[in-house]
Amino acid sequence: MAIEIRQATVLDLPEIMNLETASFAKDAWPEETFKSELAAKHTYYILALEDNLVVGYAGLSKLPGSDQADIQTIAVREDKRGLGIGKKLMDTLTLQATELGAKEIFLEVRADNSIAQKLYKLFGFKQIGTRKKYYQPDGVDAFIMKTDMRLKTNKEPVVLGIETSCDETGVGIVRGNQVLANIISSSMDKHAIFGGVVPEIAARAHLEALTPVLDEALEKANLTLDDIDAIAVTNGPGLAGALMVGVGAAKALAVATGKPIYAVNHLVGHVGADILDRGELKTPTIALLVSGGHTSLLVVRDLLNDVELLGETIDDAAGEAFDKVARVLGLSYPGGPEIDRVAKDGNPNAIRFPRGLTLPKDMEKHRYDFSFSGLKTAVARHVELAESKGEEFSIADVAASFREAVVDVLIKKAVSACKEFDVPRLLLGGGVVANARLREVAKEQCEANGIELRIPPFSLCTDNGAMIAAIGAQLIMAGRAPSTLNFSAESTLPVTTVQS
Ligand code: KG4
Ligand code: ZN
Repeated sequence: MAIEIRQATVLDLPEIMNLETASFAKDAWPEETFKSELAAKHTYYILALEDNLVVGYAGLSKLPGSDQADIQTIAVREDKRGLGIGKKLMDTLTLQATELGAKEIFLEVRADNSIAQKLYKLFGFKQIGTRKKYYQPDGVDAFIMKTDMRLKTNKEPVVLGIETSCDETGVGIVRGNQVLANIISSSMDKHAIFGGVVPEIAARAHLEALTPVLDEALEKANLTLDDIDAIAVTNGPGLAGALMVGVGAAKALAVATGKPIYAVNHLVGHVGADILDRGELKTPTIALLVSGGHTSLLVVRDLLNDVELLGETIDDAAGEAFDKVARVLGLSYPGGPEIDRVAKDGNPNAIRFPRGLTLPKDMEKHRYDFSFSGLKTAVARHVELAESKGEEFSIADVAASFREAVVDVLIKKAVSACKEFDVPRLLLGGGVVANARLREVAKEQCEANGIELRIPPFSLCTDNGAMIAAIGAQLIMAGRAPSTLNFSAESTLPVTTVQS
């Protein structure tokens, strides 16, 4: 679903009236009223279109000389609700109101329309009064709501982002789309003897690292907490105990400083990293996020409103597979860089290891999902068998063949998503992006298929606070209200929840 927003004209009246009468059965505006609204100089009406069909509309009125605007109406076709179209319409209206110089926006909403009220609250609207029995014929009250744009006209907010979802404690500071500081402390060394991230150790390390990392970020940016406009924090997905440390710290900072707080989705943060690299995110884009904690394939049509999970790993994450196979081969942790190093001298076609979830029957149910545990077992078997027979085997060949199997599946599925969804862009994120072969095959395959490949610098690919701050800044610039303090750490937060 690709939604386009454009300004409405009188020519759109028939389609608008269809939707108006379907949406507001009892109190639809008469056609004449709508016509004069569309034609008026002081109004701004917009449409949401899907395949050139009107699926929503909204309108704003702003008299010249006044610094107040009114949202006149908003409607989304019934079968298209809950897909972020209302948010997109509101994004455009509030931006237009700001550009027209409005400092406050007012609206009226039916007291029984809790869905619309929820949308307005997302944009900072608060109820300031009630008009009794305003909507006729059924005598329902109208709530009068207002939002203050003065807080949101900040075009380049300074946001401090906190990231603790796995084993990196990250604090980043951005101004708008620009990184001012990006400090990371990793507890990787502490997990090395276990060959993988131990959640309790990660959480404890976050506790110890957070204050020094925060201080260092402020120092690097040459700012004090007073200079920060808002705080953003990852509240999921990730390790529950690790997330809790960041969420607790961010809330404490918000309360102590009185600054607004934004709870941000970690995976969306990885996508936002590209904004910091090139100043914008080109959409739509397919995003392949591969790290020690996740392997996710997303289609991002709009960073704040329309992110969809196409598939993810059903067992081990890609980085985890590298770490586990490295252990089988007697290499150290983290395994990714080690396997990359050893594989350089190996033959990638020496052993044909299985490609998880690529058989026709798997492709029906798991077209964009991944599985690496079968591959890991196959490598272990191969090594055991050779050892039990007392045969020599080439670690380089095993490493190269394993790496080839992982990369093959990752890039094939990502490229096929680009084709199927007709998206000419692929963005990579996560620590596994460091993999030399992954980068090579991604480049080859994208070039061969006319796909633009985006790989942000490595410091923005691995888990970091700057990417979380970037999403916070985007939310503020889109006029979104801060999160309320009752959000919590959610280890399985879905990617559709960009802000909690
Ligand atoms: O994004 P990241 O730093 O954070 C966590 O997941 O915590 O990713 C770390 C993962 C590890 O599993 C590591 O083995 C993997 O990324 N990795 C690599 C390479 N460098 C790091 N995997 C494959 N090839 C690499 N060169
Ligand atoms: Zn991550």
